[in-house]
Amino acid sequence: MTTLSIYQVSKPHRAILQTSDIASILKLLTDAGVPFEQWPIRPLPQNADAAAVLSAYQSEIDRLKAAHGYTTVDVARVTPEHPERVALRQKFIEEHTHPDDEVRFFVEGSGAFYIHLGDQVVRLLCQAGDLISVPAGTKHWFDMGPAPHFTAIRLFVSPEGWVGHFTGNLLPGLVPKLDSAHA
Ligand SMILES: [Fe+2]
Repeated sequence: MTTLSIYQVSKPHRAILQTSDIASILKLLTDAGVPFEQWPIRPLPQNADAAAVLSAYQSEIDRLKAAHGYTTVDVARVTPEHPERVALRQKFIEEHTHPDDEVRFFVEGSGAFYIHLGDQVVRLLCQAGDLISVPAGTKHWFDMGPAPHFTAIRLFVSPEGWVGHFTGNLLPGLVPKLDSAHA
């Protein structure tokens, strides 16, 4: 279930707010300046290739491209058997920023975005059908968990794709991870 949690940087171990109500999530993210949408999930064969995934969501992709100037689109898929799953998790779980928006549409599976805004961290557990856009320059990290499973469409303004600037902040080690017993 798509779930938003808010943590205080000064007390990051426990959420001060948690909701799975989509209207509340939409309002909280909109107020935070983080675009969020839910798209209808289209049927796809198991292990559909990137072309089939992009084709299924072509109308939504075209709308976002026209609205925000995204030029590059690809499909990222990580499975629990991925040979580099530990290294991949470790890379994206460090706090970083991008010169580009980080736009992700979850075609299947799930993952958690953590967005560091002032004295708070907003965590959004994304599920299939969720689109999130972390604005350029916003501190954030992503936890795919120890057994990652997701397929996501990624949109970029820059043709270079994913370029991260790491902050070195230790906060990601303090806020509950995806597999933590505490949310
Ligand atoms: Fe990122």
